[in-house]
Amino acid sequence: MAVHTSRMFSLLLIMTVCFVVLILSQERLSKRWITFPGKHELRWESFSFDIKLWGQKEKTTAPLSVSTTTSRAKNDDSTQTNPVTELKYSTHGAVAETPIPLLYQGNFTKLPQWDFDDVYNQDAPPRPTTCAQSLRNSQDENFKKAFLPNIRLFLHKDNINMSEWNRLSHFNNPFGFMEYKYDDVMASVKLIPKPKEPLLLPKPGGDGCVHCAVVGTAGILNGSKLGAEIDAHDYVFRMNGAVTKGFEEDVGNRTSVYVHTAHSITASPSAFGTYGYKSAPHDEGIKYVMIPEGMRDFQWLKGLLKGQQVSGGQFDKEWPRDYYSGQYNESRFYVLHQDFLRYVRNRFLKSPNLNETFWPIVRPTNGAFTLFLALHTCDTVDAYGFMTDEYMKYSNYYFEKYIKSNVIFYANHDYILEKNTWKSFHKRKIIKLYQRTEPETKTETPKQH
Ligand SMILES: *[C@@H]1O[C@H](CO)[C@@H](O)[C@H](O)[C@H]1NC(C)=O
Ligand SMILES: *[C@@H]1O[C@H](CO)[C@@H](O)[C@H](O)[C@H]1NC(C)=O
Ligand SMILES: *[C@@H]1O[C@H](CO)[C@@H](O)[C@H](O)[C@H]1NC(C)=O
Ligand SMILES: *[C@@H]1O[C@H](CO)[C@@H](O)[C@H](O)[C@H]1NC(C)=O
Ligand SMILES: *[C@@H]1O[C@H](CO)[C@@H](O)[C@H](O)[C@H]1NC(C)=O
Ligand SMILES: *[C@@H]1O[C@H](CO)[C@@H](O)[C@H](O)[C@H]1NC(C)=O
Repeated sequence: MAVHTSRMFSLLLIMTVCFVVLILSQERLSKRWITFPGKHELRWESFSFDIKLWGQKEKTTAPLSVSTTTSRAKNDDSTQTNPVTELKYSTHGAVAETPIPLLYQGNFTKLPQWDFDDVYNQDAPPRPTTCAQSLRNSQDENFKKAFLPNIRLFLHKDNINMSEWNRLSHFNNPFGFMEYKYDDVMASVKLIPKPKEPLLLPKPGGDGCVHCAVVGTAGILNGSKLGAEIDAHDYVFRMNGAVTKGFEEDVGNRTSVYVHTAHSITASPSAFGTYGYKSAPHDEGIKYVMIPEGMRDFQWLKGLLKGQQVSGGQFDKEWPRDYYSGQYNESRFYVLHQDFLRYVRNRFLKSPNLNETFWPIVRPTNGAFTLFLALHTCDTVDAYGFMTDEYMKYSNYYFEKYIKSNVIFYANHDYILEKNTWKSFHKRKIIKLYQRTEPETKTETPKQH
């Protein structure tokens, strides 16, 4: 038995040595770690090695300025280049002329980390803050550290160029363009007009603050009788299957900003038709905000912006403008920027599921992106119909009035993380979250025990 074990051990040792030699020879001969055949984990290892090396290189040059051709020799015998080490892009200095080779989600077993992951474009503030009670003046240390009041919110034809393309191609959708071809995406992005006005302005004759209500679709709103309170805000944000007809008493009837994806705007009429949902909200002057979730959204955008049918993809032959009930207007249409979406994930909603093999589908909900959009465009934010600790007491959706349904958890979203985030924001007075069972005496002096 002992002999057998030691023989096994020797064999293993020899195999390991051979393996290491093989790796080293591969490296010396080809300098192409990326094509090294092996198990999934190995591919990840070789990627992280390259990333690290690349990061080290970056630290020796200007921030976000990368030119790695010298860090690794190209394989003389091959016309193929290493997809990671041959990257060239820059936001200043030498300008990259061509898109980087495609990176694939399947080559990473968990969310890849890049040195520039937490670097975002920012824009000039849209307006001076005139509101003393603005959440922008929050004294909460953690919030102040994470919050970027001027994060770039919107993508348009004038704020994308080749270096931006190459930077954003390192991030999976909706946070960037990984796996996408430059021409496929840019054909749409080059049509997105630069917004002429900020999403929201203080109401004339008001107190100088922008007061917003963000209305999710959670069952907690059923029977809440909050409709009038919600509608009394300067602006009301809604998203997804935002049925109001027949539920006005609980959820209000106004929508000033409607946030959607191509999927949500096309799927909602059939998914929620039985609850009276006919089409996306279309109040006079409504602003539409799109989350560019994936390629199908860029295909949608092309048709929408040109006033044509979609050509190709999941929504082939659809007429996007039909879904906006006559309220589509270029100057009231906004597309969220990948930096904003990534910032929300990275700084506020970084789910541990991003370390799992299904990481590419893990992202905040449309409701979460909507709430964060409000946090960056409003002075005060009241959240209604978002998930709370007592979610099990209520239906999944407020319009599921007559049959108590259960909240559905999809693997692509971390609902519990989001729920806890809203609760924490409420405690820290960054938002006001409707939690229903909260004692109404909370503003009175609490009794000390
Ligand atoms: C990376 O993913 C692409 C597309 O799925 C695949 O063709 C390629 O072989 C992968 N590369 C490595 C090193 O696994
Ligand atoms: C490309 O766009 C980025 C972001 O808008 C900007 O900072 C950069 O200066 C632009 N680069 C070039 C070469 O125009
Ligand atoms: C919402 O309800 C109010 C009061 O009932 C009404 O005056 C208003 O016209 C309604 N607005 C819309 C957009 O339906
Ligand atoms: C689009 O909206 C803008 C700003 O609200 C308005 O000035 C313009 O007349 C609208 N255009 C159309 C075609 O309705
Ligand atoms: C993923 O795992 C790494 C290494 O264990 C850890 O540092 C990181 O915080 C994890 N990421 C998330 C989002 O949990
Ligand atoms: C919705 O609210 C009504 C009125 O409060 C209540 O009678 C009903 O049971 C609620 N539905 C569900 C599914 O909780």
